[in-house]
Amino acid sequence: TLNFQIEPRVTLLDALRMRADLTGNKRGCDRGACGACTMIVDGRTVYACSTLAIEVQGKQIRTVEGLSTGNTLHPVQQAFCDVDALMCGFCTPGFIMATVALLEKNPRPTEEQVRKGLDGNICRCGTFVRIKEAALTARVVARG
Ligand code: FES
Repeated sequence: TLNFQIEPRVTLLDALRMRADLTGNKRGCDRGACGACTMIVDGRTVYACSTLAIEVQGKQIRTVEGLSTGNTLHPVQQAFCDVDALMCGFCTPGFIMATVALLEKNPRPTEEQVRKGLDGNICRCGTFVRIKEAALTARVVARG
């Protein structure tokens, strides 16, 4: 649990990056268009750059930092590594969070559902084919 006193105008992204040193989720566009800052709040994805920290007081906030267990990556993180689903990597934490949220809701998505589920995130390097593959592979891992 994190406790801060912050001004009402501070975004969730700034609160976590600047005050808690949780810099895993990135600032891309800073205006709700790219998805690099995607976090999961009470089970739903949000753009942390466009969410005020005060709006999520008392809610469960999940960032990319919280996914692994010790040295073991979350199945989605592992799948991204396994299929090499990144180039510059800047969008990756946001894509991973969006993929986690998608698979937690729908553990067996079709390709079309993956495309739709991740359509709030942009990879400017053009790695989307691999990202989609990672989402489908992680699905298999998660099912065991
Ligand atoms: Fe938040 Fe781009 S940085 S959507």
